[in-house]
Amino acid sequence: MDFATSTSTTFLFFLLLLPFSAVGQADDGRVEVGSSLTATNDGSPWRSPSGDFAFGFHQHADRFLVSIWFDKVPAQPLVWYAFDYAVGNPILAPAGSKIELTAENGLVLRDPRGQQLWRSDIATDEAAYGVMNDTGNFVVRGRNSDVLWQSFDHPTDTLLPTQTLEINGKLFSRLNENNFSQGRFQLSLQNDGNLVLNMVNLPTKFVYEDGPFYTSRTADPANESNSGVRLIFNESGQVYVLRKNGLRYNVGTGATLAPPAADFYQRVTLDFDGVFSHYYYPKGNTSVGWSTVWSQPENICSRMGERGSGACGYNSICKLNDSRRPTCSCPPGFSLLDPDDKYGSCKPDVELDCREDGRMAMEDMYDTTVLLNTDWPGAINDYDLLQPYGEQDCRAACLRDCMCAVAILKDDSCWKKKLPLTNGRENGGFSGKAFIKFTKRDRTPASLNLPNVDEEKNKGTLITISTLLGTSMFVNFALVGAFCLGFLSIYQKKLPKVEQVGLETNLQVFTHEELAEATNGFKEELGRGAFGIVYKGTIGMGTVAVKKLDRAVRDGNWDKEFKTEINVIGQTHHKNLVRLLGFCQEKEQRLLVYEFLCNGTLADYLFRNAKPSWNQRTQIAKSIASGLLYLHEECSTQIIHCDIKPENILLDVNYNARISDFGLSKLLMMDQTQTKTGIRGTKGYVAPEWFRNMPVTAKVDVYSFGVLLLEIICCRRNVVVEESAGCTDGDSSILTYWAYDCFQEGTIDDLIGDDDMEARHDRKSLERLLMTALWCIQEDPCLRPTMRKVTQMLEGVVQVTIPPNPSPFTITVG
Ligand SMILES: *[C@@H]1O[C@H](CO)[C@@H](O)[C@H](O)[C@H]1NC(C)=O
Ligand SMILES: *[C@@H]1O[C@H](CO)[C@@H](O)[C@H](O)[C@H]1NC(C)=O
Ligand SMILES: *[C@@H]1O[C@H](CO)[C@@H](O)[C@H](O)[C@H]1NC(C)=O
Ligand SMILES: *[C@@H]1O[C@H](CO)[C@@H](O)[C@H](O)[C@H]1NC(C)=O
Ligand SMILES: *[C@@H]1O[C@H](CO)[C@@H](O)[C@H](O)[C@H]1NC(C)=O
Ligand SMILES: *[C@@H]1O[C@H](CO)[C@@H](O)[C@H](O)[C@H]1NC(C)=O
Ligand SMILES: *[C@@H]1O[C@H](CO)[C@@H](O)[C@H](O)[C@H]1NC(C)=O
Repeated sequence: MDFATSTSTTFLFFLLLLPFSAVGQADDGRVEVGSSLTATNDGSPWRSPSGDFAFGFHQHADRFLVSIWFDKVPAQPLVWYAFDYAVGNPILAPAGSKIELTAENGLVLRDPRGQQLWRSDIATDEAAYGVMNDTGNFVVRGRNSDVLWQSFDHPTDTLLPTQTLEINGKLFSRLNENNFSQGRFQLSLQNDGNLVLNMVNLPTKFVYEDGPFYTSRTADPANESNSGVRLIFNESGQVYVLRKNGLRYNVGTGATLAPPAADFYQRVTLDFDGVFSHYYYPKGNTSVGWSTVWSQPENICSRMGERGSGACGYNSICKLNDSRRPTCSCPPGFSLLDPDDKYGSCKPDVELDCREDGRMAMEDMYDTTVLLNTDWPGAINDYDLLQPYGEQDCRAACLRDCMCAVAILKDDSCWKKKLPLTNGRENGGFSGKAFIKFTKRDRTPASLNLPNVDEEKNKGTLITISTLLGTSMFVNFALVGAFCLGFLSIYQKKLPKVEQVGLETNLQVFTHEELAEATNGFKEELGRGAFGIVYKGTIGMGTVAVKKLDRAVRDGNWDKEFKTEINVIGQTHHKNLVRLLGFCQEKEQRLLVYEFLCNGTLADYLFRNAKPSWNQRTQIAKSIASGLLYLHEECSTQIIHCDIKPENILLDVNYNARISDFGLSKLLMMDQTQTKTGIRGTKGYVAPEWFRNMPVTAKVDVYSFGVLLLEIICCRRNVVVEESAGCTDGDSSILTYWAYDCFQEGTIDDLIGDDDMEARHDRKSLERLLMTALWCIQEDPCLRPTMRKVTQMLEGVVQVTIPPNPSPFTITVG
């Protein structure tokens, strides 16, 4: 037989085979035992009844993957593929391989020579039939229709609606867009009930448990009933950790935003870059593409871990782009270790070499480039800290030290860092400077496309701070605003009228009628604050909080001030601030529309129910500090809050703390009839300078934060108004005094109570938080640290010294 006949015979043979394959599957997605599929370019797969999903061979380079995909979506994204979990590789079958549904072993994949490559393990019974379900689940059933095997029990990187992840269940990211081997990230529901996103070391697959990128904090060893048991992606598109007691913890941020399941395909995927995203795709419309409902973590570049490189490789710099995706770049003077792996490690173009020490002056050998907004934080990178140091000294210190690869100057601190650098990031919120050392003899460092490389270094030119802030603000907008913008854009479409106030903000202007309708006639009250009543409302697909200022417009001046303030507030974008979405300014009425946060105030959280965990409390404290730092130093116009208290801190669905009611105090000041004394703030939280003839600065917020921090540590109010039965100890009636007494007497356990084992065991951080609080509540504002310092104290990046008595002039009457 010559070649031509042979090919045509084969062709004919396949043509004949096709109808038989089709017989293997009925319209109801059922696949009979004995049916098989062959790995060819044009084989027809087993489809689900609706045709939405298909099971079959998917070509991958010159091999084929046994997989399940969205059949009606272009490019047919895979939702499952046969995977060898032991080695972390997909099963790649050569052309001509065959998968068959057998009675003894369920699905069996064999190569053209008959060698078994993979099989679904069905232990208990003989398979009777299989079903490609409309949910995207391929199920092998026994004679009693019981499930013997299903693809939903063996996820790779994707979950579909109705799929769950049990304790010890895992999702693995791919290595990169084109290689489906196990990648650098893993999402697992741990034994303790916590859902965590960790880094994986390659090629060993060791999982770094420190510095997870995301954790749901659904482990509660003290109270098992609070612990998570299952990750559920339910029919209506909600993704949550179910706790033993039936309560749910939403993994996504936009609880109200899940698109209707009937009209959209949905999936959650742990992408190769480590971002866990909920995607949706409009059914029957191929012109739109996949959109994101939410993604976790909020910022994958912000990992703090002792081991592992971070979201990008060693020495690399991670930066979030507008869709909250990490992009990695090498610093000047460095290049990719593997040029094909953009997310991999960077190596210095010329190694720093201490053996050259002494032959030449270091200054002649090396020079530095300055990067702004760039840091490799964490003690693991540091080997020396020089203080107080200025720019010249810091740069020189690194130049003259053969070990030093990078020096970071922040405020008056100069950190010397060594290779390899880990967890590098570019972040608009970071105000320090990074001096990157490179070897002179060679060429000058390759100038990367980093927007903020200081080219003028040799002339010693200093870029003016205002431009710097401008850039970092913009970056902040872009990063933090990503979710919010998504939210906005969703309902912008739904609203007929969209106006802009000023050029800089994205605020929407609402009519009173629109807001009356949104709030159902101002029906459901969420709370009352110093400025008015807050109502719950619904606009488009989102829930909002509408604040009706109870102050009538006084005159033109007040109105102008209102606009100015709104503009300032509208420009703030930070993950720990409640976002203003729009406002209404009609006749006498002034209303503000904020995003709605579903988990109430910190006051309720701290004082009402069971104590939140110590970990959660420290996170909340850090979040508030970070929000305040932003208000004080990082937004374009400094905002002093003047009324920091637990009632003004709201919690979002993930229990992230968000500061509310900021930027409004100026408005109130213009009209002081309400508060006779002119003091703005709330008793128990106001700084002493309000009562004295002293200028009011941002330090008033530091004071209030200190009080709040004590309350967070102790889970009780600063001033207990009515002595409860169990608490008649006069010494402890005012927390700020009592805390210092306990600190001085070394009885800080009294502060947290017997039940707070977690805090007791984390003594170091307990002491650090307490001392930080005591520094914040110093009567002398000059002694109080700035919020920047406070964040460093809380993070533990600076040492917290023993605080003096906060109120040396106050005598407590016993
Ligand atoms: C698909 O799965 C769902 C949920 O398990 C089940 O109710 C339904 O009957 C299945 N469909 C088919 C065609 O087996
Ligand atoms: C994917 O990456 C792994 C690990 O580096 C490698 O062994 C494998 O050959 C790659 N597969 C493909 C299809 O490139
Ligand atoms: C555990 O927490 C639940 C609330 O989720 C509470 O009702 C229960 O009393 C707690 N149990 C213990 C032993 O603390
Ligand atoms: C899915 O979960 C959400 C939120 O927990 C809930 O409101 C909804 O009813 C659930 N849907 C189904 C079909 O169970
Ligand atoms: C698909 O979506 C686009 C963008 O939303 C829209 O303009 C178009 O009309 C839609 N097409 C169909 C067939 O629904
Ligand atoms: C962000 O990066 C991802 C992956 O590199 C890319 O697909 C996406 O288009 C980028 N988004 C923006 C807004 O630049
Ligand atoms: C926090 O939000 C979750 C999800 O919406 C809800 O189940 C829980 O009850 C809320 N907790 C409080 C204290 O409001």
